[in-house]
Amino acid sequence: MDSIIVRGNGPLHGQIPIAGAKNACLALMPATLLSEEPLTLTNAPRLSDIRTMTELLASLGAEVTGLQDGKVLATSCHGEINPVADYDIVRKMRASNLVLGPLLARLGHAVVSLPGGCAIGARPMDIHIDALSALGAEIELKEGYLHAKALGGLRGAVHEMRFASVGATENFLMAAVLAKGSSVLKNAAREPEIVDLARCLRAMGAEIEGEGSSTITIQGVDRLHGATHPVVTDRIELGTYMLAPAICGGEVECLGGKIELVESFCEKLDAAGVSVEETATGLKVKRKNGRIRAVDVVTEPFPGFPTDLQAQMMALLATAEGTSVLEEKIFENRFMHAPELMRMGARIEVQGGQATVHGVEKLKGARVMATDLRASVSLILAGLAAEGETVVSRVYHLDRGYERVEEKLGAVGAKIERVKGE
Ligand code: EPZ
Repeated sequence: MDSIIVRGNGPLHGQIPIAGAKNACLALMPATLLSEEPLTLTNAPRLSDIRTMTELLASLGAEVTGLQDGKVLATSCHGEINPVADYDIVRKMRASNLVLGPLLARLGHAVVSLPGGCAIGARPMDIHIDALSALGAEIELKEGYLHAKALGGLRGAVHEMRFASVGATENFLMAAVLAKGSSVLKNAAREPEIVDLARCLRAMGAEIEGEGSSTITIQGVDRLHGATHPVVTDRIELGTYMLAPAICGGEVECLGGKIELVESFCEKLDAAGVSVEETATGLKVKRKNGRIRAVDVVTEPFPGFPTDLQAQMMALLATAEGTSVLEEKIFENRFMHAPELMRMGARIEVQGGQATVHGVEKLKGARVMATDLRASVSLILAGLAAEGETVVSRVYHLDRGYERVEEKLGAVGAKIERVKGE
């Protein structure tokens, strides 16, 4: 397993290109199952999760090409489709459950393994099941697999979700677009990745309105056609790299960044003493002056503070002046980066869904272990400003969501290198 070595060093300067959004691409790729014609995604990120989704779609009968350059994925499903998403692939990546809606819409049946829990939580699928059942699907759990069928096809419905689940919204959208009649989804997720999926489905011929709001209306159509769609910029990669100059000084421009993708995050950066300037090519970030100030953070569904930036924000607040309280309201176990940051000298108390961070002057480099995708990058960020050397092990977690992190940070002056593991 590879490790990454980071040495604390001075201010960073330069530009970091932000890739297409992993969490948009993982919902866009299953949309290929909805049409016999090819779906081409440009600006696709080069990530191991994208390769896993490619493997899954191939196991269902889709042809996916273009992976070698990573930027363009052409997928088509004109042949026989296998309706079974196998546990061996699904357990590696929860987003595999996003084939459930499209398979039901296209074939009228699907057998999708439950993903099982992951480091950050149990990750149940009750909201997905309720949403697809509202469209007429009959879903039962047998030996760890969801067996779903909609004999006679799906029917449009009005459905309100108990929680604005991102994945369940995506599964509902990809099912309802081919259902008979119209559907209304209430308490829908509002993330930019939902908006991106709706735009792609519309380009394929779907009739959708209201994406980005809590109420989305879909008029079912008989069939969808192929399309070419650019994957939206990754707001979580954007926020992650915005924190690099915030943590160790200097000025970095994140190319492709847009304020509307990270509005609530920027409000917290501003309160912490970090300035963000919109340029013609992205977002320029630097400290206003002096030490970072403590701020409180509560994670919420979009447009609230993103749970996927909570770990990275904790790395910033670990050396802030004062005490910050971070409340994680989306996942039940998303503070595993805290004990690792404490190995670097951070002073953090975790009680249930709340972490209290008492800022210290400086962190000290140490050997630390990545536990999940976002926790791993928060340790890299902390290492950028720590005294001495930090070695982050198990960086396969990192490669799921960040392409070439050592190149992107190295290009702006970070002392960072990847050490190949056995
Ligand atoms: C998506 O996961 C993202 N993944 C996650 O990013 C992100 O953290 C999450 O949305 C919240 O923004 C992808 O888009 C591939 P949810 P998803 O359904 O769809 C509970 C990353 O780091 N829940 O909105 O799985 C669930 O357990 C990843 O890139 C149910 O109880 O998130 C969680 O506590 C991590 N029942 C909460 O809702 C359900 O049926 C939010 O889940 C579904 C979800």
